[in-house]
Amino acid sequence: MKTKITEMLGIEYPIIQGGMAWVAEHHLAAAVSEAGGLGLIGGANAPGEVVREEIRKARELTKKPFGVNVMLMSPYADDVAKVVVEEGIKVVTTGAGIPGKYMGMWKEAGIKVIPVVASVAQARLMEKSGADAVVAEGMESGGHIGEATTMTLVPQVVDAVSIPVIAAGGIADGRGIAAAFMLGAEAVQMGTRFVVSKESIVSQAYKDRVIKAKDIDSTVTGMSHGHPIRCLRNKMTREYLKLEKEGRPFEELEYLTLGTLRKAVMEGDVDNGTVMAGQIAGMVKKEQTCKEMIEEMMAQAEALLGRK
Ligand SMILES: Cc1cc2nc3c(=O)[nH]c(=O)nc-3n(C[C@H](O)[C@H](O)[C@H](O)COP(=O)(O)O)c2cc1C
Repeated sequence: MKTKITEMLGIEYPIIQGGMAWVAEHHLAAAVSEAGGLGLIGGANAPGEVVREEIRKARELTKKPFGVNVMLMSPYADDVAKVVVEEGIKVVTTGAGIPGKYMGMWKEAGIKVIPVVASVAQARLMEKSGADAVVAEGMESGGHIGEATTMTLVPQVVDAVSIPVIAAGGIADGRGIAAAFMLGAEAVQMGTRFVVSKESIVSQAYKDRVIKAKDIDSTVTGMSHGHPIRCLRNKMTREYLKLEKEGRPFEELEYLTLGTLRKAVMEGDVDNGTVMAGQIAGMVKKEQTCKEMIEEMMAQAEALLGRK
């Protein structure tokens, strides 16, 4: 399926794997790219040299293009921004801020810059700053979220900007992809479904929690402080939400979640850790390879869109 995004990024299918902290490392990114989508290495709060190492390891696994998600609030953002240029990365997605400061350097290096946005205003701002496309991410998503849903956000962003729009949040099968195209998207970004892929290094306990999750098993922590995160309900979220309701300061709540995504992803502690996943977890029912997932979803989407 050819779209403005597949042409722009030189990929076979309009499917991007979100740059997920701790989850989106070289195995996952390479597997998604090898299967014809676009894999992303999640820069998160990692130092530049760690990201460089991840890029090099991914290159050993695939010759196809993959990108890096640069978290602009990371203390290492300046380093990571340079590393992607030095390593010849051609696609960067950004989160948590405006990439304006790096735009000149990235453009000069021929990098396609794709910020993640949660509102029309952010999308317009990113277009003005020189972004090549935007990911419009609805609040159904796993991880840090905005306030609008994918269904309402995507068509409004599509109407507001002239650069291509990638839909994210709550998409995990061919129906979701077809729906995103109907809303005007040129590609989709998915996180939750790829968390349970065979190539994902996420602990088995984490994958099992996602696979067993029902439609209403996710919750949002940090809403009252303006830092909402969607994750699956567990002991940690119950404690967090209790304290949040009591009006405890943000710093205290932040301290409670320090290192907890790592704890769930790497150590499999799904009671005290943060099990980030989106509302669509209820529909994610099996572990498959990225190739199986992508081929299955694309066959379904193409059939629904009447392209085959
Ligand atoms: C475990 C997890 C970690 C995530 N971490 C990040 C991150 O570090 N940076 C980012 O831009 N998005 C992050 N996201 C969001 C994804 O990149 C993606 O946009 C989102 O998962 C799409 O929605 P879905 O979960 O409904 O597929 C994360 C999502 C999950 C599930």
